[in-house]
Order: sequence, then C-alpha cells, then structure tokens
Amino acid sequence: MTGDTSTHFPQRSDSPALRFSSRLPGFYELGISQRREIIQDMAQIDPKQSSTSESFGDFSTLNAELVNVFIENGIGTMALPLGVATNFHINGRDVLVPMAVEETSVLAAASHGAKLARLGGGFITSSTAPIGTGQIQLYPLKDLDYDKILTEHTEELIAHAHDGQQRLLARGGGVRDIRWRFIDAISSLVIYVDIDTRDAMGANLINTICEKLSKRIAELIPCEMGLRILTNLCDKRMARARCRVPKEALSNQEFSGPEVVERIVNAYLFAAHDVYRATTHNKGVMNGIDPVVIATGNDWRAVEAGAHAYSCRSGVYQPMTHWSKNAEGDLEGEIELPMAVGTVGGVTTLHPTAQAALKLLGSPNAQALAEIIVSVGLAQNLSALRALASEGIQRGHMSLHEGNLRLAAQRDRH
Ligand code: MEV
Repeated sequence: MTGDTSTHFPQRSDSPALRFSSRLPGFYELGISQRREIIQDMAQIDPKQSSTSESFGDFSTLNAELVNVFIENGIGTMALPLGVATNFHINGRDVLVPMAVEETSVLAAASHGAKLARLGGGFITSSTAPIGTGQIQLYPLKDLDYDKILTEHTEELIAHAHDGQQRLLARGGGVRDIRWRFIDAISSLVIYVDIDTRDAMGANLINTICEKLSKRIAELIPCEMGLRILTNLCDKRMARARCRVPKEALSNQEFSGPEVVERIVNAYLFAAHDVYRATTHNKGVMNGIDPVVIATGNDWRAVEAGAHAYSCRSGVYQPMTHWSKNAEGDLEGEIELPMAVGTVGGVTTLHPTAQAALKLLGSPNAQALAEIIVSVGLAQNLSALRALASEGIQRGHMSLHEGNLRLAAQRDRH
C-alpha cells in the first residue's frame, strides 16, 4: 500500500503521531495481556509503576476471562471506589446500599439523606411489574386497515412471540400488550410490544422478540422494515419512593426547622421553573442512582436515558423529585422514574462485585432493586437540597474533599 510503512502495530516511539494512532487492525485478535502491553506502551505507562499511579487495574475481581466475555478489545479494568451508604430504612427494613462512584461526598450525602428520612419512618416504595417495551417500525407499502389487521392478529402475534420462550413464561413473564400508532411525518407504522421480563433487565430478550415478531408482521402488512429495538423510555416499568422528614430534624445554626422546610420547597420550585436548575437538581438525583446501578452491574446509560426522557414528558424538562410541606409542617418528598434494572443475567450474574452488591442488598428481585435505587436518588437529592437551602454545599464537600487535595498536592511535589 502506497505510503503505508507501519508494521502491524506501532512500535515504542517518541513520535506522538505513532503513539496516538487509533487504527489498530487485528487488535481484537490478540490476547488480553498483549493488548494491555500495546496500550501501556502507546500511552507510555510503565507497568512497574505503583498502583497509585496510572494503571489499567488489576484482575483480582474482574479477571481477564470476564473482561473478554463482557467487551471487545479489553485491556484491563477501570476501578471505582465502592462504598456502602448507611441509614437506609425502606418499607420497614434496614438496607445497606453498595455504591460505586468516584465523587467525594456522594456516600456521605446519601447516608445523611437516609438518616433524615429515617426520622420520619424511612422510605415507602412501590413499583409496577418489570415491563419493558420494544418498538417495531415499518413503512407500509399499501394503504391497509392496520387497526383491523393488528387487532385481529394480536393474540396470534403474542403466541408467536412466546414460542421458544418457555423459561420466561415459566418465570411468569411474557408479552403483556401489543399497541401501535402511525406517525405521518415519517410514514411509519410503529408497533409497541410490552414485555414482562421478570428479574432480567431484558434488553436482549425484548430485541429478540421484536425481531422475531417483525417477520410475522411483514407477512400481514406488506412493508419495508425499519428499526426493531427496545425503548429506554420504559414508562411501564416505574419505581416510586416517598419519605417524610420531621421539621425539627432540619434545623441548623442558621435556620429553624420550619424555615429549612420552606427553603427546600422553594429550591424544588426553582428547579420546576428553571431548566438550568432542574438539570443540576437531577444530576444530584443521579448521583445517588447511578452508583447503585453500577455496583449491581446494571446499565446506567439506559437508566440515565430513561430518567431524563421521563423528566421531559410534559414537554418541559422537570425535576425528578417533588418536595412539599404537609399539614403538620413536615417535609415530604417523592420520586417516580422508569427503572430498567435486573438482578439476573448478563453482568449482574457474572460480575463478582455485582453479585456481592446484590447479596449485600439482601438478594432483591428486579422490582425491589428498582425501589431501593429510587430511594437512594431521593435521599441524595434531599441531602443536596438541605445543604443548598441552608449553609451551602461547599463546607461539607470541601472538608471531605481535603484528602483528594492533599494527595494531589503530594503528587505535584514528586
Ligand atoms: C453535585 O454533584 C450535585 C449537586 O449540584 C446537586 C444539586 O445542586 O442539587 C449538589
């Protein structure tokens, strides 16, 4: 090839161009330790450096075999601190919550929020059945009566979807509904398939069923097939939590309890009327949610996508939580989000840390896990709003952050 003088992989070189080429043909065929060596070399990371320096992690918990099973082109692991949030009392039961996160003060804030909620009896939760939704998009080639065709064939389509899904049916899952709508702007008939995936997150299951159903649907409605994929806006798979904080528990040096209640409600109203504040408010909620989703081996991108889209369902991005003052003057909070998490299958089953995290949580089923997760989101938001509405967050945050700063200063000196 003209001009191509590279060997199979860039050799160690001082040339940044060679070091940082991202073209690595054949990389995926190598063994994991070879890949790791190449990347260490390209990034000029000395593998003998101590573990406090740059490192692709060790394989003590997530071994090379698992890395290779989970992803392609694996070279190592990215370690995150794993901690335990305390004080959670959910539906009358104490729960220790594993959280994997790098941000200072998240664990402390979650535990503090849970402590406040505990004084009012803890979190009360509920959830829907774990029903995920898939979408089948088709471009019909003829002007047919789709309503009639699909209504007449709904039962048959459900039976077709269930064919080969004996294990899902035995666990009590399966297709619950088939719905559709025509979108004129894109000349598409979109069919929604609601599937109870039981304790699995169920993305693969939903996609498999959609692809299978699409073939039968194409026989009923001559069409060009579009996409077949689950939606992360799984608004039939909802988890809810609420809590009450007695006003006395909120007093501090600057403000009385009733004043803090008012100030927290006002902070909520700020988020409800200003999208810039709503975004940060919700970032704080996700500070609680993501670390539990990650620690249990679940797909936090799916959860993030669903949570933000749901917050926009009115057309205006809204806070994920709601805070109000009740008749006694106490603070009451609520959260309701789509929560597609599983406790069996995929990474949740294979990742040793996810397994340990689920065990610590008392081996919940998918619905119970979803309810714990939204409770943590509510606690996290409570703690942030309490601080923001009184002394500000920097005092607590910076005192916890001191360790990071000290270590960074020591590194600078060396
Ligand atoms: C920081 O990670 C999260 C907060 O900004 C959330 C909020 O403002 O509500 C403190």
